[in-house]
Amino acid sequence: MKVDAYEKFFMWGVGVVLVAFFASTAIAAFGSAIHPPSHVETIDPTKIFTDARFRPTGVSVDPQGRVHARIVGMTFAWMPNEMTLPAETPVTFHITALDVVHGFQIVRTNGQSMAIPGYIAQFTTRFDAGEYLVVCNEYCGVGHHQMAAKMHVVPKDVWQAPPMSASTGASPVARNAGQGGDHGRH
Ligand code: CUA
Repeated sequence: MKVDAYEKFFMWGVGVVLVAFFASTAIAAFGSAIHPPSHVETIDPTKIFTDARFRPTGVSVDPQGRVHARIVGMTFAWMPNEMTLPAETPVTFHITALDVVHGFQIVRTNGQSMAIPGYIAQFTTRFDAGEYLVVCNEYCGVGHHQMAAKMHVVPKDVWQAPPMSASTGASPVARNAGQGGDHGRH
């Protein structure tokens, strides 16, 4: 069978590009252990509210003084639906879902992640003082558009850590993942 020279050229070209794409994915996944933030840590979605990692939900400070925000997405709300955070301070978000896939997005910031049942997504970011809107950006059902929350970011000298917030430490897995820096930054 006669194959035109140009056709051969493009067939080989496509082959090379495909190999390069698959190889880069394989090297990132198996060589560098890079995974989506959603897959860092798992949780039983039926036991979220008895799991120490989400008790309490909302804002807390760990024994090392780092600020965490623990959030559960469900049809059709974020829990908690209101948070107050310190400005210009790294905040580590831990996000999971109770029922179906939701999308946690802090509007007009780089803070966003899918919320997937069974997984705890994590990212660390910081904010300027102001009022922020949190929405759901994955279609999750008839109440999807109502799934919103408020985030107040106040100057850090004004901010007060919530009472009892030192009671919950990040899990060892979450701590290790946090070392790598800004997982989930876009
Ligand atoms: Cu939750 Cu859309």
